[in-house]
Amino acid sequence: MANAETYLRQPCRTVHGIPMVNAFARGWERIDTFQSRPKDIVVVTFPKSGTTWVCEIVDMILQGGDPEKCKRDTITKRVPMLEFAAPGEMPAGTDVLATMPSPRVVKTHLPARILPKSFWENRCKMIYMGRNAKDVAVSFYHFDLMNKLQQHPGMWTEYLEKFMAGRVAYGSWYDHVKDYWERRKEHPILYLFYEDLKEDLRREVVKVAQFLGQQLPEAVLDAIIQHTSFEAMRDNPTTNYTMLPSHIMDHSVSPFMRKGTTGDWKNHFTVAQSERFDQDYAEKMSGTDLRFRTQI
Ligand code: PPS
Repeated sequence: MANAETYLRQPCRTVHGIPMVNAFARGWERIDTFQSRPKDIVVVTFPKSGTTWVCEIVDMILQGGDPEKCKRDTITKRVPMLEFAAPGEMPAGTDVLATMPSPRVVKTHLPARILPKSFWENRCKMIYMGRNAKDVAVSFYHFDLMNKLQQHPGMWTEYLEKFMAGRVAYGSWYDHVKDYWERRKEHPILYLFYEDLKEDLRREVVKVAQFLGQQLPEAVLDAIIQHTSFEAMRDNPTTNYTMLPSHIMDHSVSPFMRKGTTGDWKNHFTVAQSERFDQDYAEKMSGTDLRFRTQI
């Protein structure tokens, strides 16, 4: 039986060619053989793209806009993360999901290529959220500083190179965003952008509700907007991850709900780093019509 010492701060392990969080990579058959249900709603993102935000919005929609119902448990239990595992610490995501009634909301960061086949076969609805790569890199760096399930990120300069090369957990941001963007042409995927939610949360919540087949009364919409603002989610123990054991996530190093803005990359990238990043980005993203905004 693995204990935390064997996987905390350890390098990723490769799963189907993708670098995976060490603790999650063990016993991967549970993911490959995972059985979805047709009513499952999958919230899928590259890490640090606003997953928790979308999960809370979806749960609020399903709970009729009642914030008290959403406070029934932590977000990690209301919307389990499919691939999560921390043996000896917390139950695996697949085990929690098995006990839940439908419709289940499933969080995952898995690239499309290694998402369990069953989700595609059952044509489960997926909500994908993308966020511009520069802000993701900054957010991921701070997350790796505070989250011991990740290898220590080292210095920012080196970390940025690793991010660009896809040598971080879940691999290449570029492949991740492009693959779901293409698959949305053949599968029910609502593709959202973090920057759009920052710009007009109401408009984007309406989109999510429509995708889930719901038309929300104005009062419900108001409640959702209020409950899922950055400030409200930062101050809510069921969404800010402070209920997780502090030897795994140390919020004194960097809080999970860190800044919640677009454009924080400007405070971290040097001019030279930004230029190099942009050049590499243009190459990696050539041939796609997928566009991100690095400021709003
Ligand atoms: S994780 O660990 O991958 O699931 O993290 P994820 O939830 O995808 O991303 C965390 C970042 O999203 C920000 N966040 C928000 N921004 C705006 N509004 C709301 N309500 C909100 N909730 C979470 C969070 O602050 C992280 O971004 P950074 O840039 O680090 O602040």
